[in-house]
Amino acid sequence: MKATAKANTNIALIKYWGKRDENLFLPMNSSISITLDKFYTITTVEFKEKLDSDIFILNKNIESNSERDKVSRFLDRIRKRTGTNLHAEIISENKVPTAAGFASSASGFAALAAAASKSLNLDLDKKDISILARQGSGSASRSIYGGFVEWQKGIQKDGQDSFAKPLLSEKDWNISILSVVVASKEKNVSSREGMKRTIETSPFYSGWLSTVEKDLVMVREAINAQDFERLGEVVEGNALKMHATMLGAEPPVLYWQSGTMEVIHYIQSLRLSGIPVYLTIDAGPNVKVLCLPTDEKRIYESLLSLPSVKEVITCHPGEGITYL
Ligand code: ADP
Ligand code: DP6
Ligand code: CO
Repeated sequence: MKATAKANTNIALIKYWGKRDENLFLPMNSSISITLDKFYTITTVEFKEKLDSDIFILNKNIESNSERDKVSRFLDRIRKRTGTNLHAEIISENKVPTAAGFASSASGFAALAAAASKSLNLDLDKKDISILARQGSGSASRSIYGGFVEWQKGIQKDGQDSFAKPLLSEKDWNISILSVVVASKEKNVSSREGMKRTIETSPFYSGWLSTVEKDLVMVREAINAQDFERLGEVVEGNALKMHATMLGAEPPVLYWQSGTMEVIHYIQSLRLSGIPVYLTIDAGPNVKVLCLPTDEKRIYESLLSLPSVKEVITCHPGEGITYL
């Protein structure tokens, strides 16, 4: 009745932005990511006889009722499946800033799905854990696997064909992902709310949908060929395009801060000077810089010298879920 799992976060190369079904977390488009080695969550779930509600402890704090309820609603899906009405104690540690655009929901719900299902002896395979994790946070579906991963959107109404698949193992292609911190406070608009507002109100969302398939094809090909420059071009364009859809929402969603702009312009100038370096940005102000391992050290040092950069964490492709 007790299990512990670890899951790494992931950074999307082609973004998931918009749901076609909010209850089942079915996305409008497929997405592709890299699981990172440095940011992760470790979660222990224990179902107990004597509890009358779930208890959710994150980073040693007892979480608010609204945060606990999100976790409880997720566990309800597993309770329903196994026929148990037991409550659980969930103890989680985020080695990643929470709700700040570093994808804590991805590692958080991937670790929770793995630990909760194991603690009830559900014996799920990775595909089923991905389907389960997806229903806590869409991006969590991808953190089940290591390396380069695709979450296929699926076409069924029940979501049974909407899960992640590994494209290339973390051992097969080493690239560098520098996580550039310009701010790590919690964001005002959650990913969930930001994408909902965008699809409901942004006139630019149709442009996103009509081009994302082409971006997916190019990124799959670049990963297959291990062609870094082709990958980077599409990835950077896709991220900026996602942020453009948000700017068209009512009211607009703008996650960038002045430091974000400083890093964007700096990376673009490095590229003009001949260094293959690209960037992507999730729902937050921080920038993830993609480069080759041979250039990682000098780019790391030069980023640290920018006034608005607080910290740079060098990541590489990391592994999928593990049980501790
Ligand atoms: P982020 O950029 O961190 O993914 P989101 O807005 O997508 O931001 O999600 C943040 C939410 O994810 C938190 O408010 C919380 O509900 C959930 N979350 C984060 N970490 C965990 C965890 N370790 N266990 C369960 N849920 C978590
Ligand atoms: C910009 O997975 O955090 O990081 O499914 O509502 O929990 P919910 O949203 P979430 O959204 C991630 C958005 C993104 C892009 C991505 O990771 O693909
Ligand atoms: Co998230």
